[in-house]
Amino acid sequence: MSHLSLKDLCVRYPVKGGVVTALSEVNLEMESGDFLVALGASGCGKTTLLNCLAGFLPPSSGEIELDGHAIGGPGADRGVVFQKHALMPWINVIDNVALGLKMRGIGLTERRRVALEKLKLVGLEEHAQKAIYELSGGMQQRVGIARALANDPALLLMDEPMGALDAFTRETVQELLIDVWKRSNKMIFFITHSVEEALFLATRLVIMTPSPGRILRIYEDLPFSKMFLDTRNSREVKSNRDFIAMREEVLSLIHHREPEQITV
Ligand SMILES: Nc1ncnc2c1ncn2[C@@H]1O[C@H](COP(=O)(O)OP(=O)(O)O)[C@@H](O)[C@H]1O
Ligand SMILES: [Mg+2]
Repeated sequence: MSHLSLKDLCVRYPVKGGVVTALSEVNLEMESGDFLVALGASGCGKTTLLNCLAGFLPPSSGEIELDGHAIGGPGADRGVVFQKHALMPWINVIDNVALGLKMRGIGLTERRRVALEKLKLVGLEEHAQKAIYELSGGMQQRVGIARALANDPALLLMDEPMGALDAFTRETVQELLIDVWKRSNKMIFFITHSVEEALFLATRLVIMTPSPGRILRIYEDLPFSKMFLDTRNSREVKSNRDFIAMREEVLSLIHHREPEQITV
């Protein structure tokens, strides 16, 4: 069981003529099995928050602890999936997935075994020997997910990973991600600006608001991904009456904030 804790996290970027407060007083706890989705308009600090969790960006103040240790930089206990897959085009699929293991000094046989296991998890074991350019956009994102899982991280960080996919592929990858989450029981921190995607995936939904970036509201125990696991029918889930009611509630919550944003 892993545990993540954020206390009074603030990030300020120096800009010409002053500072931008990208995150202000963010407090959050997460544990294994949480599929946490951060939802909000552009500029509300989602990527900044993910970069702090990944260890790419030191916070200006506040604390982040993963399993009792302060996050001081990137580490194998966190896997990151970006919007653009960021795979290495000159090595094949399985070696892309195994790259992090290679960097940690794990031998060829073992790292290929682990990489194949992760490729199975995302349904791509038959494509292990292919070149990256032979895969569709959705398959490339699935390779990115397999790669992020290769180190068996406690925390999976995903910054709008479906952003570049067409609507059909997006839905398939969402379904796959729910299966991966269910099977691996990891903590997932997932960023999106799609309300529908957020509600479908999240067990916990964090609504963020800009100027300064902060948490506006957290919804706990969302049922829709579990509903998908029961029915295997995402269209049915997304057209469910409760889903639509939640979607409208969240949309009005986000839109209600807009006049305030404009006057800031
Ligand atoms: N490197 C940077 N320098 C200055 N300002 C930045 C930098 N990165 C992000 N910002 C600002 O911080 C705020 C939050 O940005 P970001 O975390 O990218 O938000 P989101 O991912 O929600 O769109 C925005 O106002 C953005 O302009
Ligand atoms: Mg962003």
